[in-house]
Parts: sequence; structure tokens; C-alpha cells
Amino acid sequence: MANHDVLFEPFMLKNVEVKNRIAMAPMNVCFTAPNHIVSRQQIAYYAARAIGGTGLIIIEAVGGSDHDTIKTYEVHNNLMLFYPYQMSGMAELAETIHTFGAKTILQISPGAGRQGSSAYTGIQPVAPSAIPWELHPEMLPRNCQDILMKLAELMGPAHPMSETPREIRPDELEALAHDVGESARLARIAGYDGVELHAPHGYLIHEFLSPRSNKRSDQYGGSLENRARFMLECLKSMRAGVGDDFLLTVRISADEHMPDGFHVEDTIEYCKLAVTEGGADAIHLSDGSYEAMKYFLPDTDGQVVEESARIRKGLKEALGRDIPVICPSVHAPDLAAESVAAGKMDIISQGRALIADPEWANKVREGRVKDIVKCTRCLKGCIGRFVMGLPSRCLVNPEMGQEEYIEKYNTRPVLPLKKRVWFIPSEV
Ligand SMILES: Cc1cc2nc3c(=O)[nH]c(=O)nc-3n(C[C@H](O)[C@H](O)[C@H](O)COP(=O)(O)O)c2cc1C
Repeated sequence: MANHDVLFEPFMLKNVEVKNRIAMAPMNVCFTAPNHIVSRQQIAYYAARAIGGTGLIIIEAVGGSDHDTIKTYEVHNNLMLFYPYQMSGMAELAETIHTFGAKTILQISPGAGRQGSSAYTGIQPVAPSAIPWELHPEMLPRNCQDILMKLAELMGPAHPMSETPREIRPDELEALAHDVGESARLARIAGYDGVELHAPHGYLIHEFLSPRSNKRSDQYGGSLENRARFMLECLKSMRAGVGDDFLLTVRISADEHMPDGFHVEDTIEYCKLAVTEGGADAIHLSDGSYEAMKYFLPDTDGQVVEESARIRKGLKEALGRDIPVICPSVHAPDLAAESVAAGKMDIISQGRALIADPEWANKVREGRVKDIVKCTRCLKGCIGRFVMGLPSRCLVNPEMGQEEYIEKYNTRPVLPLKKRVWFIPSEV
């Protein structure tokens, strides 16, 4: 068994010290309370992962606007951060995570684009061009076919899985970019350590990056620079919202894995632009989209590792300095330690591995690797229920989704105010 010490070396993400190299990947698991605010269950669920030793918790995609075009997102009752009334739950969540020694980043999204659905809100999805996404059965992870067939049956023929979107207008893009900047500003005030722009997985920004879905002839289409424009406008607006001294990351799929899509060489260019023009401090990778779903939700371990190594190296060669890279879906501790030691990424982010076992980090640190409850990548409890709009569960972790009823997760030590709250008016 490899030595895992490298995973427990602290890392500076800009000015944020993360105590180890283990991040929780953002996952919307349908725990949000009505009106898109943070629920007690959500707080306890994230607390469990912070108590389990995870160094950095990246909160699930949060809608960063109230614009009509983002409404198709409401199907999965995502969190939203746009109005001040959504702040207090957000602040409570950040404070709880900090109490247990982890740092936290809020992932902010300008919308689902053509992967949204009018079935839930009556609003036609928007996209760079009026081209629907395609479901490719050969690109599904195992088990996903069953899950999607069940969904199609429940939704009925009137609501197909994919529908033709409307071409989004430049004034709408401007409004969305403005709004994600406002959302980022609120995230900073709420006490987060950083913000992340959500740009992977075939959602709205990804659709602009992709020559497959972006056939525009205006300033948002054509060249790679034009396709990157909307992502950069969102990043610049977020940077303006949070100021220069605050951590800003962007999540992007390493490769689209589709004909006519973008590939690793393009992603290196997109990341370069995100850093030099958008002001991003670090890159959080993912892979694929709903069209190439087996890359977005891999069946095998470490699928993004080599892409991550190429992108990290390409960025260093292009910019002459290390840009921190976060790589998802490495569940095996040996592979995680070897890959970080080899400089293939700086931090690993874990999604389903932490759903299955919130104590993953503590168990690795304490040499209890054999005690880890392994994710089987079955997708049945997490994404399987998520696509139905149901709160996620986990077939190997019966506590998942029940954290609010478990005392060690639903309480927190009462630390002195100064240790947990960043903002206290000085004149009291
Ligand atoms: C139920 C579920 C919800 C997800 N939601 C998000 C999300 O909100 N934002 C995001 O960037 N990725 C999301 N993902 C992708 C994960 O962050 C991660 O990249 C993916 O699950 C692969 O990593 P893993 O093998 O460790 O699970 C989601 C994945 C799952 C299973």
C-alpha cells in the first residue's frame, strides 16, 4: 500500500489554506428547502463530510440569477443565491463547515441551458443555438439506461427528455453575467472562502464553449475566443463582485468526448483565458456532458487523471507558472496519493466516494483504508433519485440523506464568536 502522506499536506489556493488535498465535489442531491434556501438536512449532510476530514467542500451548483432563462433549473430545486433572504441559510452552512475545520467554496451557475426542460416550469430552455442535446445510449454509464427509461416512462411522451431550445439573446447573456457577479458578492458576504463558476457537463456555458452546440455568427460564436466570451464575462463579473483578494475557480469539462466537440487542447486554451482574462485562480476539472454521460459520471476510477496531468502541464508551459488544478473521481487512496505526488493535480475532488463514506479522509489519514465503505458507482441512489426530483440516498450508506436525524451531524460545538463568524460590527 502506498504512503498517503502527500494527501495530507496543506495547500494554498490563492490565500486560502486547505488542510489537505481532499475536496468534496459539488453534488446537487435535492435536499434544498422550499424557495431554494438551505435546509437543516443540507447543513447536517455537509457537516458530516467536514467532520470526516475533507479539507475543502465545494457546495453543489447554486443558481446565481432569477432571470427567466435559469428557471428550468428549478426542476431539481437547486439552491439559489441571488436575493438577500437566501443569505442567512448560506451563512449558516459556511459557518458550520468552518466550525469543523474545512474550507468551503460556493459553485455558482448561470443555468442549465438546453439541458433544462419546459416540463417543470413551462419555460422553453435556452442555448447558444436552437439545437437540442442528444441522448446517446452507448455513452451512458452502466445502470443509467434503466434510470432514464423509468424517468421517460414517468414523464410521458408529452415531455421528451430533450427539447429544442431557443437561441439566447445577447442582452440575456449580459443579464446572466451581471447576476452571477452579484451572487458571488453575496457568497463572499455570507462567509464562503471562494466561489466557483459552473461551466462543465453540457450546461449553458459548456454549450457556448462547444463548437457542437454553438453555431452562432455573432460575437459569442465562431472562433475559440468568441466561444469563450460568455464564460469570461461571467468570470469577470464574479471577480468584480468579490474583489481581487478572493478565491475564484472555474469548473470545466476536460474533454467533451463527442464528434465536433471540444477536446483537451481546446480546454487548455479555455483555462488559459479563464486565468489571464477571467481572473480565475484555479481550475476544477470534470469531464463529458449529458451527451457523453459516462465521462461525467465515470464507471471506472481515475478517468480524468491523465487529462488533468495534460491540462496542468499545458497551463504551466503556456503561462510559465503553476495553476492549481483540482481533479475529480479518484476514489482509491493509492491512486489519489500517487497522482498528487506525480503532480497530475494539486487536489482531488470526490463526489460519490464521499456520499458512500463521509469519513474517507479521516480513514486514509489514520491508516484505516480497509474500513472505507466503497462507492460501487451504481448511480441508483444518488443520480437515479436526483433525476426524478427525489432526495438522493445511497445503497451502501444508509445514513446518507438522514444526517439531520443523527446527533453527531446535527449539532456543532459552540466556538467563540470570533472563531466562526468573519463579520462582527466593531462598535457594539
Ligand atoms: C447526484 C450528483 C449530483 C451532481 N451535481 C453536480 C453539481 O451540482 N455540480 C457539478 O459541477 N457537478 C455535479 N456532479 C458531478 C460530481 O461533482 C463529480 O464530478 C462526479 O460525480 C464524478 O466524481 P465521483 O466519481 O467522485 O462521483 C454531480 C454528481 C452526482 C452523482
